[in-house]
Amino acid sequence: MLWRLQVLLSLACVGVCSIVEHVSELPGLEYDFIVIGGGTAGNVVANRLTEDNRHSVLVLEAGPSNKDVLNSMVPFLCNHLTPNTPFDWNFTSIPQKGLNDRVISYPRGHILGGSSSVNFMAYTRGTSEDWDRYARLTNDYGWSWERIQPFIHKNEKFEPSADNHNITGQFNASLHNFHGVNSVSLPGSPQSIDGRVIQTTQELEEFPFNLDMNSGHHLGIGWAQTTIGTNGQRSSSATSYLGPNFANRSNLHVLLHAQVSRVIKTGTEQGKPAFQGVEFTEGVGGPWRRATARREIILSAGSIGTPHILMNSGIGDPKELARFGIKSIVDLPSVGRNLSDHPFVSNQWLVNSPLAPTFDSVNRNSSLMTNDLQQWNQTHTGPLVDALFNHLGWLRVANISSILKGRQDPAAGPNTGHIEFVISNGLTHPPVPATGNFLIVSTAVLSPTSRGSVMLNSSDPFARPLIDPNFLSTDIDIGIMREGIRSASRFVGANAWSGYIISAVSNATTDEEIDFFIRNNTGSFFHPVGTAAMSPKGAKFGVVDPDLRVKGASCLRVVDASVLPIVPAAHTQVATYVIAERASELIRDATGYYYDYSNNY
Ligand SMILES: Cc1cc2nc3c(=O)[nH]c(=O)nc-3n(C[C@H](O)[C@H](O)[C@H](O)COP(=O)(O)OP(=O)(O)OC[C@H]3O[C@@H](n4cnc5c(N)ncnc54)[C@H](O)[C@@H]3O)c2cc1C
Ligand SMILES: *[C@@H]1O[C@H](CO)[C@@H](O)[C@H](O)[C@H]1NC(C)=O
Ligand SMILES: *[C@@H]1O[C@H](CO)[C@@H](O)[C@H](O)[C@H]1NC(C)=O
Ligand SMILES: *[C@@H]1O[C@H](CO)[C@@H](O)[C@H](O)[C@H]1NC(C)=O
Ligand SMILES: *[C@@H]1O[C@H](CO)[C@@H](O)[C@H](O)[C@H]1NC(C)=O
Ligand SMILES: *[C@@H]1O[C@H](CO)[C@@H](O)[C@H](O)[C@H]1NC(C)=O
Ligand SMILES: *[C@@H]1O[C@H](CO)[C@@H](O)[C@H](O)[C@H]1NC(C)=O
Ligand SMILES: *[C@@H]1O[C@H](CO)[C@@H](O)[C@H](O)[C@H]1NC(C)=O
Ligand SMILES: *[C@@H]1O[C@H](CO)[C@@H](O)[C@H](O)[C@H]1NC(C)=O
Ligand SMILES: *[C@@H]1O[C@H](CO)[C@@H](O)[C@H](O)[C@H]1NC(C)=O
Ligand SMILES: *[C@@H]1O[C@H](CO)[C@@H](O)[C@H](O)[C@H]1NC(C)=O
Ligand SMILES: *[C@@H]1O[C@H](CO)[C@@H](O)[C@H](O)[C@H]1NC(C)=O
Repeated sequence: MLWRLQVLLSLACVGVCSIVEHVSELPGLEYDFIVIGGGTAGNVVANRLTEDNRHSVLVLEAGPSNKDVLNSMVPFLCNHLTPNTPFDWNFTSIPQKGLNDRVISYPRGHILGGSSSVNFMAYTRGTSEDWDRYARLTNDYGWSWERIQPFIHKNEKFEPSADNHNITGQFNASLHNFHGVNSVSLPGSPQSIDGRVIQTTQELEEFPFNLDMNSGHHLGIGWAQTTIGTNGQRSSSATSYLGPNFANRSNLHVLLHAQVSRVIKTGTEQGKPAFQGVEFTEGVGGPWRRATARREIILSAGSIGTPHILMNSGIGDPKELARFGIKSIVDLPSVGRNLSDHPFVSNQWLVNSPLAPTFDSVNRNSSLMTNDLQQWNQTHTGPLVDALFNHLGWLRVANISSILKGRQDPAAGPNTGHIEFVISNGLTHPPVPATGNFLIVSTAVLSPTSRGSVMLNSSDPFARPLIDPNFLSTDIDIGIMREGIRSASRFVGANAWSGYIISAVSNATTDEEIDFFIRNNTGSFFHPVGTAAMSPKGAKFGVVDPDLRVKGASCLRVVDASVLPIVPAAHTQVATYVIAERASELIRDATGYYYDYSNNY
């Protein structure tokens, strides 16, 4: 009798609480699919595969739950989630030659939802040229701008802004879907600088207004779209794809605090090693466990975690693996190599803002912050409903040929920017100085030519890997950043800002001074990709085929940002959602063939 009761209780639990903290709460350790990493991409795959109730899915996530994490709900507090919090992996780079030998922080979400639970929420799709280049580099037209539109559509749920203002003239409605899964909206709280930004676009030809930077043609300055709902709250892959409409599926299970070390070869299929086992610990230092996938393992641990797990599993450069006594099973020297990320600099101006407050006023006045939090809590409106920018810009460097000196333009095409502007009404990173109000026009190199790597540093599978973005290691990259900073100075030089700007915080003007400023201040824009890159089927380099199957292996795919061969001229979450939506379709189609095939017997 007792035994029966226990079975009933555990089944009851399975129906209503499929996001669990202990293996004992799971119905077992064998599933059709196992997704490693409950991050941006992983949760999409888990959701889509469990739409078919014949498929069972287990997600293994190292981090804690996102539930009730206030900083992850309130958009304006996004800069409190990283670096060095319980929701961050706390990675740092190795010393960067191009950055005066500095070590920089390299945050990654360590929480359900992964980096979508800690990022700055910019919703940017990249340009049509970016995607058409992916199609060329992979020899798969399925990655072209035209063919990814249905996946953008499936992901997006465009919503009214939190203040419900009239958004006509701030975006192009015909480019958006209002019925997808992941909330997207325009700013829900005006900033005092908004009028000056728009006035600058009317005043200076260099900075045209772009009604909608997500049309495929992003050049110009426009209103930022972000993954924030009409409730003024962050939308992550955890709140959306694992939201209340889905998390109750009895074929979907998520195990938190599950730290994966490696995937395990369990057999051979069509002459290739098949990886259907996964090894993990229950909590850091907890007991070792093993789970099995009847069909496939989907590796979605992100651009750092994925190559790390591949190498721990004997999939990588045999010479590198041998240094740590790891037996090579699949010879793939590209694992961890070709890391591509955006270098980013915060350019600051002291401004005259006695009446119109900047972020700085809120950030240094705790009673003002308490009031704002109370407003957010009670009505989901007010200054905290937005991320740290209301406008973004995408620009070509006018004299790019003097930087390229005959070499190929690294942008994906003539309608793709070299630099991005992020325009913020105050300092975006603590600590805030005791006095002064600021305007920030941050610059990022959108088309970096530098390539870095993620490599092992230890035979301990849980030791941190060596992360080397290798920032600003080429003349082209530093030249583009330098011209970007000059362009930002011209932006704030418009009449629109007269009487407002007091002085630039950096006094650098010559090439040499600006270069020193850049190397002294550059950090990551947090967009690493390329460490498990797609390449054409049969290519001698790359890690996965265009259908995201690991080359030379079977039953194993990579589905996350690491498969992009080059960083897009965009923030990377939308590209990650697109990859995951298309991957889910590829996996389901392949599974359909399995079913048809077996029906013939
Ligand atoms: C601070 C920050 C700000 C950003 N701002 C923006 C922005 O404004 N707009 C934008 O578009 N993009 C932004 N990005 C980038 C964007 O969020 C990422 O490109 C994207 O979320 C990556 O998705 P992913 O699925 O590849 O990896 P992730 O979302 O990072 O998911 C990987 C998951 O795997 C888990 N994992 C890793 N290793 C293991 C293991 N061994 N065992 C178990 N689980 C594991 C992780 O905990 C994580 O949950 C930002 C990123 C950061 C960090
Ligand atoms: C990151 O650092 C914070 C603060 O020191 C800590 O609480 C957290 O556990 C660390 N994260 C990981 C994954 O170790
Ligand atoms: C929104 O603004 C546009 C143009 O400014 C106007 O045509 C439209 O009627 C407005 N909509 C509402 C609901 O007020
Ligand atoms: C909005 O987008 C549609 C579809 O691409 C396009 O045809 C139309 O011209 C755009 N409208 C404006 C005002 O830019
Ligand atoms: C899960 O919840 C949603 C929304 O409440 C409901 O529509 C759906 O039927 C539920 N599914 C299951 C399997 O209980
Ligand atoms: C890096 O990418 C380039 C293509 O962009 C490719 O030619 C090269 O082989 C890759 N290197 C590795 C080690 O994968
Ligand atoms: C801080 O904010 C409170 C509440 O808005 C306000 O009354 C007070 O004057 C502010 N303090 C300073 C030093 O600006
Ligand atoms: C929000 O309100 C609830 C009660 O409605 C309260 O328990 C909680 O502490 C509040 N949070 C903040 C940050 O004010
Ligand atoms: C063009 O580029 C050169 C070399 O980087 C730089 O010195 C110069 O100032 C630039 N000129 C303009 C007008 O931006
Ligand atoms: C790499 O390993 C060495 C030797 O164990 C250690 O001293 C170093 O701190 C490690 N580096 C990183 C980035 O963890
Ligand atoms: C520019 O700023 C640097 C660092 O703040 C300072 O050392 C230098 O003297 C300044 N140069 C001029 C010309 O003001
Ligand atoms: C370089 O960075 C250091 C540390 O952040 C800072 O103190 C110094 O003023 C910076 N110098 C310049 C010229 O930016």
